[in-house]
Amino acid sequence: TELNKIRNFSIVAHIDHGKSTLADRLIQETGTVKDRDMQEQMLDSMDIERERGITIKANTVRIDYKADDGENYVLNLIDTPGHVDFAYEVSRSMRAVEGSLLVVDSSQGVEAQTLANVYHAMDADHEIVSILNKIDLPASDCDRVAEQIEDVIGLDATDAIQVSAKTGQGIHETLEAIVKKLPAPKGERNAPLKAMLVDSWYDAYLGVIVLVRIIDGVLKKGERIKMLSNGSVHHVDRIGVFKPQREEIDELGPGEIGFLTASIKQVRDTRVGDTITHEKKGTEDALPGFKPAQPVVFCGLFPVDSAEFEDLRDAIDKLALNDASFSFEMETSAALGFGFRCGFLGLLHLEVIRDRIEREYDIELITTAPSVIYHIHMKDGTMQELHNPADMPDLTFVDHMQEPRIKATILVPDEYLGDVLKLCQDRRGIQEDLTYAGTRAMVVYDLPLNEVVFDFYDRLKSVTKGYASFDYQMMGYRQDFLVKMSILVNDEPVDALSTMVHRDRAEMRGRAMVEKLKDLIPRHMFKIPIQAAIGGKVIARETLSAMRKDVTAKCYGGDATRKKKLLEKQKAGKKKMRQFGKVDIPQEAFISALKMD
Ligand code: GTP
Repeated sequence: TELNKIRNFSIVAHIDHGKSTLADRLIQETGTVKDRDMQEQMLDSMDIERERGITIKANTVRIDYKADDGENYVLNLIDTPGHVDFAYEVSRSMRAVEGSLLVVDSSQGVEAQTLANVYHAMDADHEIVSILNKIDLPASDCDRVAEQIEDVIGLDATDAIQVSAKTGQGIHETLEAIVKKLPAPKGERNAPLKAMLVDSWYDAYLGVIVLVRIIDGVLKKGERIKMLSNGSVHHVDRIGVFKPQREEIDELGPGEIGFLTASIKQVRDTRVGDTITHEKKGTEDALPGFKPAQPVVFCGLFPVDSAEFEDLRDAIDKLALNDASFSFEMETSAALGFGFRCGFLGLLHLEVIRDRIEREYDIELITTAPSVIYHIHMKDGTMQELHNPADMPDLTFVDHMQEPRIKATILVPDEYLGDVLKLCQDRRGIQEDLTYAGTRAMVVYDLPLNEVVFDFYDRLKSVTKGYASFDYQMMGYRQDFLVKMSILVNDEPVDALSTMVHRDRAEMRGRAMVEKLKDLIPRHMFKIPIQAAIGGKVIARETLSAMRKDVTAKCYGGDATRKKKLLEKQKAGKKKMRQFGKVDIPQEAFISALKMD
């Protein structure tokens, strides 16, 4: 395809503002997919994405469009994830295209992720077309939202297109705007091959599929290619495009986006942002470096049934093949046995992986307290990264500790502002900015990441009845007074419940945890002390009283089948418990105990 007939773009939006629906509509309107083959949300392929309505994996689709000027265009859409955890993926796929559609729900307005994502697009020098979506809704207010786009983002919204991705209104105008307003890609057909590795994922039939954007040169089936980062050479056995089904073609030229397969075994062997060239007569000039995504939240995953450890290993290996951003290593815990210490891009990422293990591989898991990476500066001048509170070195050797901070941007209707400020303040936040856009406030806070990883997002949603939106970026490390708090059940430390907390908040957190655990742990035949401690010092204590003997008496008598049923129930219930010394702790205690109210 000639360069001037190509348009490459992405769609940026806040979650739920209609990105996927709009993409589906563009595909349908251009006849890329026959109506009868159209499934809702073509681009969200995984079940879990569909269920949760979030887009995790960046996808792409090639749309053939005959424009009003009578010319045939190729429009390449790269779908980007909308959630904060995947900011890195957003910024990287933006580098592979020249323009963006900015979709804003006209009944809602600009939200925190709208801002974060549109800034990624601006950083990538995109031409941006604004779309006011959901104009079919009675609450739609295009004038107000257009004004907001100008005030808050600073984009000219006079030409914003009014769209209903639901009814199809404005879709034709959108396609025309893509052709007329977005720039064609630049590139040199006769130059040495230079392609960007945009994304890669594992396919059960084809192995690793690599999504590429050709910058210069031509890539053909059967050629030998080289990855510039490590010099590895591969034989290209397939080239193709997504429409959105895979369709094989013979070559990809400058400006085009498509996929290749080359018998690559693991996603880990492909580095996103890498430059791909020919083995012979290739370019030496790599694209400006991309960093691999760094996990920021760590937690232990242990099978409830320790006999399932090998199954868990297998599940994690398989998931990792398709998700290079998630890291893992084996871990042993005195209380939980064998498991894995895993690193994630954020809490949502953690939840997605945990859910997939539980559902797709049918393994029940115990998840330990999520932790961030602390920097422990030792007295001898060295620095250790602490991924797991259980590995905390002896304090006598520690000089000081640092914790990661984030810059959080929150947009909220002003009636909830007070609650949001209080929440941020309670989480050791430092207010950096407070501005208004109409009746919505935008607050920027500097917050410790460890105060955000448990349940900050849930709390924010609940104190604002779901009206607040939130986005964050990592801001580096700062020294603070952090301590390791241990939890002892029946005088035995439960390592999986150890957490790092700020010294001034330790007592409050410790008290809250032991109170919760008291409710979560069932009574036993004996009295159970539950304590929170820092070093050897107990800072909070509760006692779970012993079960009264006559309670068990109820179990006797009655008919035999009923008794059998009860026993079976007990067995099933038992499976969900883990034994610590003489005490059974239910699985949900590990997560619930850590949530703060
Ligand atoms: P993520 O994939 O989570 O980022 O969300 P998204 O931005 O892709 O939103 P999605 O397309 O899933 O749309 C969110 C909800 O809004 C869905 O229930 C859609 O059916 C609905 N929706 C999308 N566009 C319109 C529209 O124009 N009008 C109305 N009434 N509803 C719409």
